[in-house]
Amino acid sequence: MMQSLSRRISGLLLFLPLIFAVLPACHQESLLIEDMDTVCFYGQVMPVLQTSCGIAGCHDGSQEGFLAAGYSSVMQSVVPGDPRGSKLYQVITDINGEQMMPPDRPLTQDQRSVIQVWIAQGALETTCDTGNGGVVIIIPSDSICFVQDILPLFLSNCAMSSCHDGLSQEEDDLYALNSYATIRAHVVPFNPSESEVYKAVTGSGEEFMPPPPKSPLTNAQKELMRKWIAEGALNSDCPEATCDTLNPVGFTTQVKPIIDSYCVGCHNASSSNGGVNLNGYDQVKKYAETFRNGTPLLVGTIRHMTGFKAMPPSSALDECSIRKIELWIEQGKLNN
Ligand code: HEC
Repeated sequence: MMQSLSRRISGLLLFLPLIFAVLPACHQESLLIEDMDTVCFYGQVMPVLQTSCGIAGCHDGSQEGFLAAGYSSVMQSVVPGDPRGSKLYQVITDINGEQMMPPDRPLTQDQRSVIQVWIAQGALETTCDTGNGGVVIIIPSDSICFVQDILPLFLSNCAMSSCHDGLSQEEDDLYALNSYATIRAHVVPFNPSESEVYKAVTGSGEEFMPPPPKSPLTNAQKELMRKWIAEGALNSDCPEATCDTLNPVGFTTQVKPIIDSYCVGCHNASSSNGGVNLNGYDQVKKYAETFRNGTPLLVGTIRHMTGFKAMPPSSALDECSIRKIELWIEQGKLNN
C-alpha cells in the first residue's frame, strides 16, 4: 500500500522506452520524446538550472519567484507531462521574447531539449546511479504502487475468465488487462480523463465497467486508479521492506485491504464465484473456519495447496500478505 517502504522501479527504465515504442505515435513531438532515454534530473537538469538560473542574485532564493534550489522548488514551475504548459519551459524557449530566461543568453538547444524531454517524461525525480549506469526514479512515499495497489484491482475486477484475461478475445474489445504492458496500452499517462480504463470504471466512457451484475469499483478504488494515472502510470513495485508479523493482526486494518483488492472483485454478493462471498468480516471469517484436510479453506487457497483451488487464480499473494492472514486466524480473528 502506501507506507514509506523501499520503493523500486526495477527494470522500468529499460522497459519504458519499449512500451512507448509499441504504441502508435500520434504526433511528431511524442515520437521524439518516446525514443529518448529517461532523463536524469539530478545529473542532467539540475546542473543546467543551477549554473544558468540559480546563480547569486538570480533564482538562488534571494528574490521571489522561481527557485532553482532542488526538485520540489523546480516543480513549482513545471506541469508533469506538459512542457508547453510549464512556466519553466515557456521562459527558456521564449528566445528574445519578454520572458526569455536566462535574460542575457538563451540555453543551448541541447539544454532546452533535455528539459523538454524531462518534463514530457513526467518530470520525475530521477537520479543517475553511477554504479550500474542506470537512471533510478525516486518515488515519493505517498505515491501509488502499480504492483501492490493497481494490478490486483485489474486481476480481480477485469481479468477474470471470459472477460479481460487475455484468453477470451473472440470479440475485439475483450483485450487483455492482466499485466503492466496490457493495462498501460489503455492508459494515457498523466491524463485519467483520456484513459480508456479510467473512463470505463467511472462511467464516463461508452461502456461502464465492470458490466452489471458485477459490482462497480468502490470510490476509493477509482481514486487509486485516477491517482496512479495522474502520477504517470508507472510500473512501480513497492515491496514491504519488513513484514510486520510481531504486532497482532487486525481484520479491518490489515486483512480487509488485502481481501478487498485481491479477492472481492470475484467474490461478492452479486458475483460469488464458486458460491464464495468474501465481502466483509463475517464472510471472510466463515472461510477461515471452514476446514478441508485440516486446513482452513482461506489458507489452503492462498497457499496454493493441493486439494484447493489456487487463489487468486492468476497469481499468488506475496508471502507477507499470506503470513498476515494466517496469523490473523491463529490469533483468534480479531475484528479491528
Ligand atoms: C479472477 C477471479 C477470482 C479472484 C480474483 C479470486 N477468486 Fe476465488 N474463486 C474464483 C472462482 C472462479 C472460483 C471457483 C473455482 C472452481 O470451483 O473451479 C473460486 C473459488 C474460491 C474458493 C473455494 C475454493 C475451493 O477450493 O473450494 C475460495 C475459498 C476462494 N475462491 C478464495 C479466494 C480468495 C481468498 C481470493 C483472494 C486472495 C480469491 N478467491 C480471488 C475466482 C476468483
